[in-house]
Amino acid sequence: MDILDTIKKRQSVRDFSEEKISEEHLKIILDAAYHAPIGRAAYNRYELIVIKHKEKIDALAQKIAEAGILTKHPFFHAPIVIFVAAKPNRERLDGCDTGCLIENMMLAATSLGLGSCFLYTVSEVINGRPFLLQALGLSDEYRAMSAVVIGHPKEKDLPPKVRPGIATRVL
Ligand SMILES: Cc1cc2nc3c(=O)[nH]c(=O)nc-3n(C[C@H](O)[C@H](O)[C@H](O)COP(=O)(O)O)c2cc1C
Repeated sequence: MDILDTIKKRQSVRDFSEEKISEEHLKIILDAAYHAPIGRAAYNRYELIVIKHKEKIDALAQKIAEAGILTKHPFFHAPIVIFVAAKPNRERLDGCDTGCLIENMMLAATSLGLGSCFLYTVSEVINGRPFLLQALGLSDEYRAMSAVVIGHPKEKDLPPKVRPGIATRVL
């Protein structure tokens, strides 16, 4: 798929079928992340945590539910959840890097006919709670930056999304 078509086709998917993601597709998605631009090329500051077993995703969802904040399944029952984790350094730059990593993964997923959704809120829930950081295998010095869920959309051939545009000034 042409890159511009892929950009326009991507939209948040929050309803997934139970079909798993193939290892081949996962590899392509991770490779897209590895090719993201990162401020000062500090790739080694980031870690991707791929959770691809339903039991593990549901166990983490259950622990998050115990925190009593999110009421719905935080990962929308997606077959794959990928967290971006980092040792916080320059907060705003970390957020920009994370956006680049996740957008690359979402665009790769779209080009493969998969659906995805960027998840920030869940990272805030996790970061305030050491037992949730531990559940992700993260030590205290790491933070969950955001996550992306990826899977086969339940609804195929979603109509293109009409977007409002963004105020733009050309000087
Ligand atoms: C930085 C960022 C954080 C987001 N966090 C969440 C989130 O926590 N939960 C969620 O359901 N969607 C989240 N989204 C998805 C947005 O709601 C979605 O991208 C937006 O409504 C535009 O819709 P679209 O993705 O279909 O184009 C996030 C998106 C971005 C870029």
